[in-house]
Amino acid sequence: MTDIMISRRELRLAETVARQLINAFIRRKLTPAFSDFLVTHLAGVTMLIAVIDTAKLGDHSPYTNPDLLHQLSTDLGGMSVRLSNHSGIRLVILLSPLPKLPHKVNFPVDAPRGRLAIGDSYTGQPVLLDWAQTTHLAVLGNTGSGKSIFLQSLVAQAIRDDMQLLLSDIDQTTFGMLENHPNLAAPIATSPQAALGLIEQALAECDRRAELFKNLPERPQKLSEYNALAVKAHIDPLPRMVVVLDEASTVITALGGAKGAMGQALATLGWRGRKFGEHFIFAAQEFTKDIVGPVRDQVGLTLCFRVRNGQMAERMGCKGAERIPENRPGLAISDRHGPIQTYFVEHSHLGQPQNLFSTMSDLEHSLFSLALSEGGKLPASKVQEWGRISEWQARRMMETWALKGWLAKDSIRDNAFCITPKMQVLLSNHQTAQTGSNRSQTGIKPSQTN
Ligand SMILES: Nc1ncnc2c1ncn2[C@@H]1O[C@H](COP(=O)(O)OP(=O)(O)OP(=O)(O)O)[C@@H](O)[C@H]1O
Ligand SMILES: [Mg+2]
Repeated sequence: MTDIMISRRELRLAETVARQLINAFIRRKLTPAFSDFLVTHLAGVTMLIAVIDTAKLGDHSPYTNPDLLHQLSTDLGGMSVRLSNHSGIRLVILLSPLPKLPHKVNFPVDAPRGRLAIGDSYTGQPVLLDWAQTTHLAVLGNTGSGKSIFLQSLVAQAIRDDMQLLLSDIDQTTFGMLENHPNLAAPIATSPQAALGLIEQALAECDRRAELFKNLPERPQKLSEYNALAVKAHIDPLPRMVVVLDEASTVITALGGAKGAMGQALATLGWRGRKFGEHFIFAAQEFTKDIVGPVRDQVGLTLCFRVRNGQMAERMGCKGAERIPENRPGLAISDRHGPIQTYFVEHSHLGQPQNLFSTMSDLEHSLFSLALSEGGKLPASKVQEWGRISEWQARRMMETWALKGWLAKDSIRDNAFCITPKMQVLLSNHQTAQTGSNRSQTGIKPSQTN
């Protein structure tokens, strides 16, 4: 597949690169199961897409390993080799220089639910991740490079998707506005010891979930399987859980390094968490020598903002992150998707991350619709029962909704709230938005390179 934007020179280059790629696979004892080579031009860049026929492969993992991308790039004389976000395995090799990414991209309000939008890639399209595939994330960057804003955008999406949160914020500069948020499974940790407590809590949750998994005769192997069975069996589905460790190096070092209590607990959570829908995010200015290897082995994606240490960026598969200019906060190199301009979120939105999104969550929608059908009243006891949360958490949640103008205090009963006219409008809009997005009118599409 070619088009008129592609020059003869680029076509010749594509042929050479395709041959080199086959040879590189053979040299590395990998099956060169390419079913197609496509040359395409997208968002100002010409690229060669090498489609791998996954039916001809045994284990897929050697073909999607960030190390392989790195090695292939070396084999191709430093050309950028990426993995496409498309299903199956497609390698993308850039044949022309990258176009410049914008300095600032606001978080897209119509980012799809249930996935993680991390930023715009060089194709100008959002990079969307699946939690189940990504498992854990590493985020690196010097001071002022954009880590906190990125973590906030991530946590805001986790809240939108009704996930549970365990947050550690030693400097108290990243998550302050989320103190007492109802999605928190524990108070925000502000000391290494408290951070260790969070990891232990996450491990205890793995044990609890393991028991629940065992109770089902079908023996589910992952969270999505458990939840599908739970719905059929009329038992409660389990939310995903995100553990965010800002200043991770400081915390791990304070507790004895990779071999200390924290290092060990994290290693256990790394492999146990996958099955039970528990994900962790390590963020740090740098990883010390003893933890860079273990971190690298655990995570499905690394995002490097501007870093001092080029060697470390390279070891994490994010070569070139040391060359990101100081005046480009939010620009990062990822090991799987190349350069990404991560999304900017306004500080004022963060206390109430739901404000970032155009619609309320599906669970909120079902609760409010139910309340509306029952005369518009919403007692705290109902919210408590619905969210399986304490009365205190339910009241805080209702106060948050009241601040957003979704609910108003019932003048007769002190403990109850009523649905506002604004909420009634939102409920009908939500319905329309849902139908609209089914027809894919949301304007945001999964990042694809063809
Ligand atoms: N995605 C982005 N787009 C545009 N500007 C950004 C972005 N992220 C961060 N910035 C700018 O950079 C500043 C610093 O970002 P941030 O606080 O996230 O850095 P940090 O890496 O967490 O630093 P530290 O290690 O000191 O905590 C922000 O106040 C903002 O002005
Ligand atoms: Mg920060």
